[in-house]
Amino acid sequence: MAEKTEKKKSSYISASESRKITRFNRRVTRKLENERADAGKDPSLYTTKMKDENNVVEFDNVCTYFFTDVGTVKAVDGINFSIPKHATVGVVGESGCGKSVTSLSLMQLLQRPSGQTVGGEIRLNLGDGTAYNIVNTPNSIMETIRGNKISMIFQEPMTSLNPVFRIGAQVDEVTKLHNPEMSDEDVKARTLEMLDLVGIANKEGVYNMYPHELSGGMRQRICIAIALACSPTLIIADEPTTALDVTIQAQILDLLQNLKDKIGSSIMLITHDLGVVAGMADYVVVMYAGRVVEKGTADDIFHHPMHPYTIGLMRSKPVVGKKVEALYNIPGSVPNPVDMPQYCYFRDRCEMRKPECDGVYPPEIKVSDTHFVSCYCYKDQGEIQGYPSSVDVNTLL
Ligand SMILES: Nc1ncnc2c1ncn2[C@@H]1O[C@H](COP(=O)(O)OP(=O)(O)OP(=O)(O)O)[C@@H](O)[C@H]1O
Ligand SMILES: [Mg+2]
Repeated sequence: MAEKTEKKKSSYISASESRKITRFNRRVTRKLENERADAGKDPSLYTTKMKDENNVVEFDNVCTYFFTDVGTVKAVDGINFSIPKHATVGVVGESGCGKSVTSLSLMQLLQRPSGQTVGGEIRLNLGDGTAYNIVNTPNSIMETIRGNKISMIFQEPMTSLNPVFRIGAQVDEVTKLHNPEMSDEDVKARTLEMLDLVGIANKEGVYNMYPHELSGGMRQRICIAIALACSPTLIIADEPTTALDVTIQAQILDLLQNLKDKIGSSIMLITHDLGVVAGMADYVVVMYAGRVVEKGTADDIFHHPMHPYTIGLMRSKPVVGKKVEALYNIPGSVPNPVDMPQYCYFRDRCEMRKPECDGVYPPEIKVSDTHFVSCYCYKDQGEIQGYPSSVDVNTLL
C-alpha cells in the first residue's frame, strides 16, 4: 500500500507544479529558438571541421530534449558515434530508446519548439575539408541538405507517399526540386532510370499509377527511389522493413545494400530487429534509454557482446535450429524518461550488477580499437574514454 502511494506521489503533478513547468518550458524554448536564429546568421557558428575526414557524420555528445507538460524528456542524452564513408551503421535498441530522435536531430526535423538539441555537435562532412554543425545550421541550408546529402526512408511506405499523386509525379518532384535546371524530359528519364534501378519491371506503367495500386514491397521500392533520386551521401533507413513480410524484407535489404554500393553512400539503419542488422551492418550502435551503451563492428557486437543489455538482446533473439523452452526476456522496464537516475540506467534490470553500479553513470570504456562499452564490469579491461555529458536544463535559462 505504502509503495502504491509512493508511486502515485512520484508521477503526480500539482496544478502549481504544472504551471511552473509550462512557464519554464516557454522561457527555455523561446531562448533556445532565439539563440538558434542568431547562430544561423553567422556561418562561423555552423561551419566546423570533422574530427576524422573518413566519416560522413559525427555525433558528438548530442543531447536532444523534449520540453513537455510533464517535464523534460531527455530522449537523447550525450550520444557519441560516427558513420564512416561507404559503411552501414546499425542503430539498435528497444522501443523509445531514442533511435528515431537521433535521426530526426540529424535531419533537423524535430517537433519544435518543444523538441530541441540542447547540447553537442552533429557534424556533416561536406567533402571539401569543412563540415556543417547541423545543430546550428539555418533552415535555408537544411533544405539543400535534406534529400540532397541526407535522405530518409520511413517505416510505412503508404504514409510517406501521397495517395492522390501518381508515382511518377512524386519521384519527379524530388529531382526537380534539387535540380531546377533540368528539363521535364530529363527529369522523367531520371525517374524511369531510378524505377529501373530499384527493380520495378513495368516502369512506364508504374510511372502512371497511384500508390494504392502497388503492393507494400513495391511502395517501399518507390520510397527508396525517391530517397536515392539525388544520390545522397547518407541514407537514413528508419525501420525500413518492419511493415513488410519476411521474403520482401530480404529483397528490400538486398536492394538497399546494392544501391548503397552503386552510389557510394553510407546507411544509418535503424531497427529493433537484430537479424536485419546482422545481415547488413558493418558497425553496430546499441542504445538504451537515450544513451549509447555499446558500439563496435558487427563482429564485436554479435560475437563478443559485453554490455549486459546487449547480451540480453542476443539471448532474446530466436535462433534457427536451437530448441529453447521459452525465449529470454530482460526483466523490468526502462526508467521514467522524465526522471532519470544518476546511476546506470540499466542497473535495476542488470544480472551483472556490482556495488559500484550504485555510483555515477558508468564511463565509456575502450576495450579494443573498435569496441566501446559503458559498463563498470569492464573498467579493468580498457581505457576510460569519458563520461556521457548530460545538460542540466536549469543552466539553459
Ligand atoms: N514529440 C515528442 N514529444 C515528447 N516526447 C517525445 C517526442 N518524440 C519522442 N519523444 C520521446 O523520446 C523518446 C525516444 O523516442 P524515439 O521515437 O526516438 O524512440 P525509438 O527508439 O525510435 O522507438 P521505436 O523503436 O518505437 O521507433 C521516447 O521516450 C519518446 O516518448
Ligand atoms: Mg522510432
